[in-house]
Amino acid sequence: MSVGVVIVAAGSGSRLGASVPKAFVLVGGRPLLEYAVRAALSARPAAVVVAAPASHVDEALDLVEPLSREHGIPVQVVPGGAERGDSVLAGVRWLPEACDVVLVHDAARAFTPSEVFERVAAAVTEAVPAVVPVLPVVDTVKVVDAEGFVVSTPDRAALRIVQTPQGFRRDVLLAAHAAHGSLATDDAGLVELLGLRVGTVPGDPAAYKITSPADLAHAERLVDHRG
Ligand code: CTP
Ligand code: MG
Repeated sequence: MSVGVVIVAAGSGSRLGASVPKAFVLVGGRPLLEYAVRAALSARPAAVVVAAPASHVDEALDLVEPLSREHGIPVQVVPGGAERGDSVLAGVRWLPEACDVVLVHDAARAFTPSEVFERVAAAVTEAVPAVVPVLPVVDTVKVVDAEGFVVSTPDRAALRIVQTPQGFRRDVLLAAHAAHGSLATDDAGLVELLGLRVGTVPGDPAAYKITSPADLAHAERLVDHRG
């Protein structure tokens, strides 16, 4: 098994509202993308590719080159696309053919421990071609109609919060994107639409997605605490 990691970092971060794309926002004086790439490299994959905003490809290259040298692992940067799915495909296309397992990770989940990458990669098999890291749901969840009236209350014990990196057999990930494009909100959702088995492994609270200014403030506290 040879693992390649695609880090999608081509979003603008409109909900964060910073003056630069989200992956280039500084926390503890370093860009979020640097934390994400370091975590991926620590899991010792064969290769990493970053899908960056077209305007920031050179800046991303300057950032990843020393990290690539430090770890002795190739790290490429490609321009991402208009939708997250386009950025995923742009990244997967660059990965060496030998990478038969692909982990797709959001740069916005910058503080994901490298152990999560390792757990996900180890769980991808022929029979379970897609694996997602999950957390239990602590709040009760309601299904509501268009007017906001409650329709039902799903059994909380059966619900999970889904994070990234999500792991795939490369051929299955490409087939899922080809068949269903942008029909799902995550890559594993596309594999579900193919009717294939999607497994779960434990995620980590530190893998939360930095979306709002409050999430960024939390990230600053995390980095501060780490020292
Ligand atoms: N992403 C991407 N290409 C896109 C859109 C999103 O690579 N066209 C990436 C983002 O860079 C991010 C991840 O997908 O790392 C998850 O997306 P999200 O957290 O929604 O980031 P943004 O789309 O940048 O934020 P927003 O939705 O607030 O604009
Ligand atoms: Mg978005």
